[in-house]
Order: sequence, then C-alpha cells, then structure tokens
Amino acid sequence: MVEVYNTIAGLRQVLKQRRQQGASVSFVPTMGFLHDGHLSLMRLARERGDVLVASIFVNPTQFAPGEDLEAYPRDLERDLALCQSVGVDIVFTPEPSQMYHPKASTTVTVAKVSQGLCGTSRPTHFQGVATVVTKLFNIVQPDVAVFGQKDYQQLAVIRRMVRDLDIPVEIVGGAIVREADGLAMSSRNVYLSETHRAQATALVGALRSTSAQVDGGQRSAEALLEHARGFIGRHAPAGRIDYVELVDPLELTPVVGDMGHGGAVMALAVFFGQTRLIDNMHLGAP
Ligand code: PAJ
Repeated sequence: MVEVYNTIAGLRQVLKQRRQQGASVSFVPTMGFLHDGHLSLMRLARERGDVLVASIFVNPTQFAPGEDLEAYPRDLERDLALCQSVGVDIVFTPEPSQMYHPKASTTVTVAKVSQGLCGTSRPTHFQGVATVVTKLFNIVQPDVAVFGQKDYQQLAVIRRMVRDLDIPVEIVGGAIVREADGLAMSSRNVYLSETHRAQATALVGALRSTSAQVDGGQRSAEALLEHARGFIGRHAPAGRIDYVELVDPLELTPVVGDMGHGGAVMALAVFFGQTRLIDNMHLGAP
C-alpha cells in the first residue's frame, strides 16, 4: 500500500531509513487531481529509483490573488488510488502551514528563463514554483525528479535553478500526454464548457499546422507566428490568446527572423473564459 505522510519530520524519518538501506529515491511533484500526464511521469520515475515519492500539494505561493487557488480541483482519495496503481511508494501531502512558516521571508528567483511567456501574465508564478520545488527537494532529497514538458517554461526554470544552485538531483523531462483529440491533459480541463472544450483542440491544431509549415520550408518566425495566431483565431473564436511565441529551446528568448536549422519551441497560452490553457511543441530539427 502507498504510505501517506503529511509532516516533513515523518517523511524525513522514513526516507532516512530507506537511504540507510541503500535505496535511491525518485520524485514527482504534483498539485494533485491526477491524470495520465502525471501518471506517465510517475511511471518514468518508477524505473529510476528504488523508492518513488510523489507530492500532492496545491502550492499557494504560485497562485496570484484572483487566480484559481480556492477553485483548484482536488480529490485526494482518487489520487492515492492512482498513485498506488502506478507503483508510488510514498505520497507527501502537507498542509500549507506545514510547508510555510507564518513569517517565511526567503524565496528563490530564477531570472531570464522565468521572464516572458507565462512569466509575463503571471509575474510571481515562477518564484512560487522555484521556492516550493527547492523546499520539496530539500525535504525529499531525491536522486532523480521528473517534470512534464507540458509546462515547458517550468521545466526550464527548474533545470536552470538546479544547475545554478548545485542542487544534487537529476532532472528528467517527460513527454506531453494528450487526450485522443490532441488536447494536452491538464487538471484545469475540467473547468471547460462543452463549447470551450471543443475549441480547445485549436491549441494543438495550431502547433501541428505550424510544424507542418516548418517541414514545408517556412523559416520566418513572423510568418510562423502569424500562421499559428490565425489558426487559433479561426478554430477557437471563443478563445482569447494570451501569447503565441517562438523561442530558443534553452534560453526561451524570442526567435526573430529566420529560425535557422537548430529548431525552436512554439509555446502558447489561450484563455477560454477564466481558464487558461497552455501547450508547446518543438518545431524543426532538434
Ligand atoms: P501540476 O500542474 O500538478 O503538474 C505536475 C507535473 O505534471 C508537472 O511536471 C507538469 O509538467 C506535469 N504534467 C501536467 N500535465 C501534463 C501532461 N499533459 N503531460 C505530461 N506531463 C504533464 O506543475 C505543477 O503541478 C506545480 O507547478 C509543481 C511543479 C508541483 C510545483 O508546485
């Protein structure tokens, strides 16, 4: 059975014992309401460590006032059963008071890769993510941690932070898991109305159609961006584009003019009502 801990001390104690027995630890941090995207990361992590730890924690510091912190979907019982089904050994599910001292005054800020893309419309988001992931790494002390490429900028932020702060963990990126019609799986998809759900396939549609343009020889960043924006405009009239960008895969800086032959990442975010969906795809040769 999956073991559940909600205190840092309890989790540390059991992990210390397991490490003394020579076990390696793999880790998948989540905010719960698990879907196949999360489970694919857990399967990857299962193969990479003796003890597999998953965290389920809706981290308040990565939500800005007015975002969906209170409304964020939760179902711990179902999540625990899903964790069990993919071989998670330990679930860490702390209360916010366990994670944050009332007078906490330390944060982790990752410059550059946190800016632009989601960082523009959510200026405090990645500081919240970097801080909580640092804390989770300090608590779990994993050998390997797995994150999804669905949150491309988040993965870049974590990789940069681990490199810059010499955190002794290997970061593994897991491929985006999609619904049958291509929509990237997200805990937030449950918020979508029927009309919005139908139009939400325009995100992956735009990425695939733009990828085909690149394969057909189009190299102009501006033309590719216009193509993607046009696609979303036509196929998702109810959507409101937050951003559509073509960026360098490592630095996340905008590609201007000819995208060259190294490839680039197209990343986009579209609002349907209050719900903001993101997706991304590598275009051109890797
Ligand atoms: P959450 O949104 O629950 O996502 C947890 C992990 O699952 C992240 O690494 C995310 O990229 C990955 N994921 C989500 N949807 C996916 C999909 N369709 N395919 C593949 N992977 C997917 O991301 C967070 O939580 C938080 O910011 C967290 C890192 C836990 C810090 O609070």
